[in-house]
Amino acid sequence: MNDHDKTKLTRPRPVRESISEMTEIVLPNDANPLNALLGGRLMHWIDLAGAMAAHRHSRTYVVTASIDHLDFLVPVRVGDFVILRSSVNRVFHTSMEVGVKVWVENYRVEQSRHVSSAYLTFVAIDAAGNKMAVPPVVPETEDEKRRYDGAARRREMRRAESVRRMEVRS
Ligand SMILES: CC(C)(COP(=O)(O)OP(=O)(O)OC[C@H]1O[C@@H](n2cnc3c(N)ncnc32)[C@H](O)[C@@H]1OP(=O)(O)O)[C@@H](O)C(=O)NCCC(=O)NCCS
Repeated sequence: MNDHDKTKLTRPRPVRESISEMTEIVLPNDANPLNALLGGRLMHWIDLAGAMAAHRHSRTYVVTASIDHLDFLVPVRVGDFVILRSSVNRVFHTSMEVGVKVWVENYRVEQSRHVSSAYLTFVAIDAAGNKMAVPPVVPETEDEKRRYDGAARRREMRRAESVRRMEVRS
């Protein structure tokens, strides 16, 4: 890789360059006997949608380090469309917080409802599994700046919670 390519890979990138969207149609295999989407299936899609933004931003492999608390606000039925939008909120060093917002769309009644919002932390790694520094992300819009500031607060809360859990275990 020459110096020009290296600079391209490590340059700060605006949030908009890695914003991702994924759409799924809910099939019977995704649902419980009452035709409602399984929470675990939605968690899987959230992980994938989040990883897309993380890959696009970092241009490398990533692993999921954590997923914050999740609420499922409305039921999703077989035949509904599930739309997942993801963006990188903030980069720390080797890790980045990605936000995923989930919507359910019912095309028969032209209704779109908020299902869930999730914050995930991904860590960038190389092909040998070594952690790698991630290029900074540049928030541009008011919403992006709000999420950027919020990400620092959430990181502190995750750290405090992790310390608390270790104390409970010992
Ligand atoms: C995530 C993982 C790479 C962290 O490795 P580690 O050697 O413990 O990491 P470190 O303590 O050096 O932390 C590395 C970064 O990850 C962050 N991190 C580690 N654990 C975290 C957690 N539970 N939540 C959020 N961030 C976390 C650290 O804050 C640090 O971020 P920074 O470099 O931006 O400051 C490692 O625990 C791992 O490989 N876990 C399994 C991941 C996986 O397989 N996921 C798929 C689901 S099974």
